[in-house]
Amino acid sequence: MFKSLYSKLALTLFALFSLLAALLLFLHLYSNHLYQLETQQKLNKDLAAHIAREYKIFENGMVYEDRLQDLFHAFMQINPAIELYSIDGEGKIIGYNAPDESIVRTHIDLQPVKDFIQGQRGFPIEGSDPRDINNNKIFSVVPLIQSGKTRGYLYIILAGERFSSVVSHLMNSYIINTSTWVIIIVLAMSLLLALMVFRYMTRRLSTLSEKIEQFKQSGFSKISDSQIRHDRSSDEIDDLTYSFYEMANTIVRQLNKLKQSDVQRRELIANVSHDLRTPLTTLQGYLETILRKSDELNETDKKRYIKTALQHSQRLANLVSELFELARLDANETRPKCEAFSLPELVHDVIHKYWLMTSKRNISVATRFDESLPFVHADLGLIERVIQNLLENAIRYTPDDGRIDIILTRTDGAVTVQVRDNGCGIAEKELPLIFERFYRPEKSRQQSSGGAGLGLAITKRILELHGSTIQAFSRINQGTEFRFNLPIHQA
Ligand SMILES: Nc1ncnc2c1ncn2[C@@H]1O[C@H](COP(=O)(O)OP(=O)(O)OP(=O)(O)O)[C@@H](O)[C@H]1O
Ligand SMILES: [Mg+2]
Repeated sequence: MFKSLYSKLALTLFALFSLLAALLLFLHLYSNHLYQLETQQKLNKDLAAHIAREYKIFENGMVYEDRLQDLFHAFMQINPAIELYSIDGEGKIIGYNAPDESIVRTHIDLQPVKDFIQGQRGFPIEGSDPRDINNNKIFSVVPLIQSGKTRGYLYIILAGERFSSVVSHLMNSYIINTSTWVIIIVLAMSLLLALMVFRYMTRRLSTLSEKIEQFKQSGFSKISDSQIRHDRSSDEIDDLTYSFYEMANTIVRQLNKLKQSDVQRRELIANVSHDLRTPLTTLQGYLETILRKSDELNETDKKRYIKTALQHSQRLANLVSELFELARLDANETRPKCEAFSLPELVHDVIHKYWLMTSKRNISVATRFDESLPFVHADLGLIERVIQNLLENAIRYTPDDGRIDIILTRTDGAVTVQVRDNGCGIAEKELPLIFERFYRPEKSRQQSSGGAGLGLAITKRILELHGSTIQAFSRINQGTEFRFNLPIHQA
């Protein structure tokens, strides 16, 4: 029942307020009681002296015992509620205006009496009550002096009738009643206000806890209204909420990434197995044929078979080395060793490597660049691989008599490399996918000449390691352009 934080807080608060209320009420009533005693005693301070004077108890340095007896007698008749006592110098009670059986003490304590006479202690001063052994009462007293010596005292108990209890007495007072109610109402209202504030605070916490529960229920994969603002006025609960959302978003992102990479891993394995198996089976087939039919085959056929087998083994070797390269790039084992070098020279070298292939198919490869083109700052070997991949693609996907341009231009802080061809182009919907590993559009897949679909993935990864990105622009049957930047070498 009291499981929620709010109910626990509310209960504690209620207990605390009740305790406070009890304490305040007690203090209030007790101080009021003392105040009443104080005023009563102050008002009747001189009562004993006044009566002594009126009844001429002592005159001309003499104390008249008989007049004292008359006094008791008179008060017994007139007002037995006023309790008068005569006491000797040691505190012994010697006379009173009451029936004997009501007197339960023989002596009274003289210390309060002396305090009263000396006037050094503040009121109320409570002294012994001859009719009550347990309780003290306020009084008025006058010393009876004979020949300059205190012979005794006239002692009057002021609060003659005792109330059954202080509280019941005070409860009968209109003012005390009102102020008591005011205290109770103020406390009750404060409690209500405090509960409302707590409610407001804990509501945010319970909303957060609901969100966390929902997140848990969704298998940590979905977080609703993840946009929350975080400004300077935020308190700890806001901070907590913000941190939770950040954490949840990170978890969702990571989980999606994991799922995605799991899918990619499966695809990769499927693709690798497929792409390894195809050339391997073909290779095996040719070699077996040569072995089995070596007597039937003439020299030309044999050479042709061996050449094809070699081609496939080459393809296999390429694929394996590409995979290996990508794995190294992914594992961050390859760190670019940047140096200053001339891009035009590198481009020339690469073009030269493919000269035989391009001239055979009558593809023209032209370069365009400024004479004053600065050196770039990059890893020579890796960039050579990038240009090689792009040129290889351009050659592969451009028909005979085609044209390839490699353009180098200076842009601010960088050199832009464009590799452009007028080949078959790439469909718009496939353009974003070509950089994915093993991705090859259907059309390319059907071509026997095609690679594994790893070249652009490697290119992209190398440029990423250089802090650069690659863009592709293409129109179907018109051509394709790849573009990337490399930083200029700062002397
Ligand atoms: N210049 C281009 N013109 C037309 N299509 C291209 C061009 N470059 C790349 N592509 C398309 O993008 C796909 C992916 O290219 P990528 O270089 O990654 O793989 P690949 O050339 O098929 O194989 P690999 O480079 O691994 O030998 C290619 O299969 C091709 O369809
Ligand atoms: Mg390629």
